[in-house]
Amino acid sequence: MKNYLNINDLDSLQETISEAIELKKQPLKFEELGKGKTICLLFFNNSLRTRLSTQKAAQNLGMNPIVMNFGAEGWQLEYEDGVVMNKNKSEHVKEAAQVIAQYCDIVAIRAFASLTDKEKDLAEIVLNNFKKYAGIPVVNMESAVGHPMQALADAITMEEYKVAHKPKVVLSWAPHPKALPHAVANSFVEMMQLQDADFVITHPKGYELDPTITKNSNIEYDQKKAFENADFVYVKNWSSFKDYGQVVKSDSDWMITGDKMDVTNKGKFMHCLPVRRNVVVADEVIDSENSIVIEQANNRTYSAQIVLKKILEDL
Ligand code: CP
Repeated sequence: MKNYLNINDLDSLQETISEAIELKKQPLKFEELGKGKTICLLFFNNSLRTRLSTQKAAQNLGMNPIVMNFGAEGWQLEYEDGVVMNKNKSEHVKEAAQVIAQYCDIVAIRAFASLTDKEKDLAEIVLNNFKKYAGIPVVNMESAVGHPMQALADAITMEEYKVAHKPKVVLSWAPHPKALPHAVANSFVEMMQLQDADFVITHPKGYELDPTITKNSNIEYDQKKAFENADFVYVKNWSSFKDYGQVVKSDSDWMITGDKMDVTNKGKFMHCLPVRRNVVVADEVIDSENSIVIEQANNRTYSAQIVLKKILEDL
């Protein structure tokens, strides 16, 4: 694999899930594969899970990870061509990406959506400029549009916990005080489109995701109806796509509560974390035995490790 920018960069999702589950049993089996290789992890935004699990994954493969908080400590980058750089941007991505490529074999990037400029966000200017100029493999650690490392961890987790051959999986919007990006929900939808499952998206009207991503996915505006007999309930807030980046409804009536989970098929509660307790989800749900959020976070190591392994094998 050359780059991992989207879940569809995997040749086969099912085979990758199986390989990751095997890797989880023997995480150090390929510790020679990355010997002498370096990965730069560039964070333009905050992180707990992605930062630690990707470093651990790289180390399990024998790689040397270098982490940089680019957003706080790097020079502000210019992405436009032909600009007179006499304002606050000190370095052009053309040089920055090529320089970074002198120090590493793979570059992984976290750069969230601005939620103010839809066109630029959809163009994935950070990820695509690094891909264009670095000349080394690029890994998406959550971009403006997607979080495929999270989606792969979610797929691994569902495979481990599923009881039905064709489970019912619900992606539910939940309230949040701040406007959040669409990346996690987008990649979850793209991942579910590769699965044999009864998949339903539920959200209030006005929170439709990008229709070029949801395509023919089943959308149910009645949250309780959507939850009926669900095997997995995946919860995430996102801001409006149509009224780009706006919070058009923040009522607590979409919060995930025990009453709502009661109509599921002992459904597993999933969330990528971080999560705001008693805003997004009630304590009784996230603390219940059906909550698998910690295993999801654990599987971030193995989703990153299988992705890096595939890239190292093709270097
Ligand atoms: N789920 C996730 O990506 O967590 P972090 O933002 O903490 O990395």
